Amino acid sequence: MVRSGDLGGRRVLVVGASSGIGRALAYAAGAAGARVALAARRFELVEAAAAEIRNAGAEARAWRCDVTDADDVRGLVEEAALWMGGIDLVLYLSGASPLVRVADASPAQWHELLATNLVGAATVVASSLRHLRQAPAPAVVVTTTTMGEAPWPWLTVYGSTKAALAEMARGLRREEPGLRVLCVAVGPTVTAFAEGWDPDMATAAFTAWAEGEMMRYGLLEAADMATAIIDAVLDVGGPNDILIAAPADPNGRPSATAETPNPL
Ligand SMILES: NC(=O)c1ccc[n+]([C@@H]2O[C@H](COP(=O)([O-])OP(=O)(O)OC[C@H]3O[C@@H](n4cnc5c(N)ncnc54)[C@H](OP(=O)(O)O)[C@@H]3O)[C@@H](O)[C@H]2O)c1
Repeated sequence: MVRSGDLGGRRVLVVGASSGIGRALAYAAGAAGARVALAARRFELVEAAAAEIRNAGAEARAWRCDVTDADDVRGLVEEAALWMGGIDLVLYLSGASPLVRVADASPAQWHELLATNLVGAATVVASSLRHLRQAPAPAVVVTTTTMGEAPWPWLTVYGSTKAALAEMARGLRREEPGLRVLCVAVGPTVTAFAEGWDPDMATAAFTAWAEGEMMRYGLLEAADMATAIIDAVLDVGGPNDILIAAPADPNGRPSATAETPNPL
């Protein structure tokens, strides 16, 4: 792995930084020397994360932003770029999914999930491009799932949005050859992601996933996932489609690896 040192002096925008992997990534970027702009809808949580980063000695500032609102996104990007003096790296972590089967998903649910998981990412990236194009080694990170390996019942709507996001990443690489676009298939990670799931539906879904032998990875902590993603960004010349997951075998390697090509 060719590691280009740390993120010292890099200007990093983290969208979806109020919890989970995004929050851990913002912290890891600050610890690696970056100036960090954090955003999500729950401003008090984003501000608390930014304060934690500042207390650890790095520069960080919080914004409220709903990625489904294009004006919000454009305002965020311009203000963050002004504050940081540009943008080198965009980390897009905003994402959501209820458990819902295709038979029960309303058009409104489809639109909402597409808006958050796909269109939000596209809007953040498109708004950031004029800044990224001026940066010396610009990069964008989006996250997909390990579901490319097998479809997961109850997460088909979510998986569809993530498959579209992976396709956007592929196309963006051709359209913006100077931009590194990392697409990370995120293995199971302890976050707030499943907090709103209906318990009965979750039981049915987990049973189906276990019977289908789909739960093949162990659980990672958000901080370990964040460290592995930052390592992948710093792995200059490394793969851009990667899977980061813990092995299911408790005797296997305990931390994340970013060595396996994403099967998507
Ligand atoms: N955890 C896993 O096992 C796993 C597996 C595969 C992929 N992923 C992906 O990893 C990413 C991060 O998820 P996580 O696990 O860290 O879950 P999380 O803790 O629930 O974080 C989700 C983040 O998305 C933000 N978000 C949701 N809707 C938004 C909106 N409309 N505008 C702005 N931000 C919005 C949330 O902030 P606000 O609510 O404050 O806006 C929050 O910061 C997601 O894209 C998810 O699909 C996670």
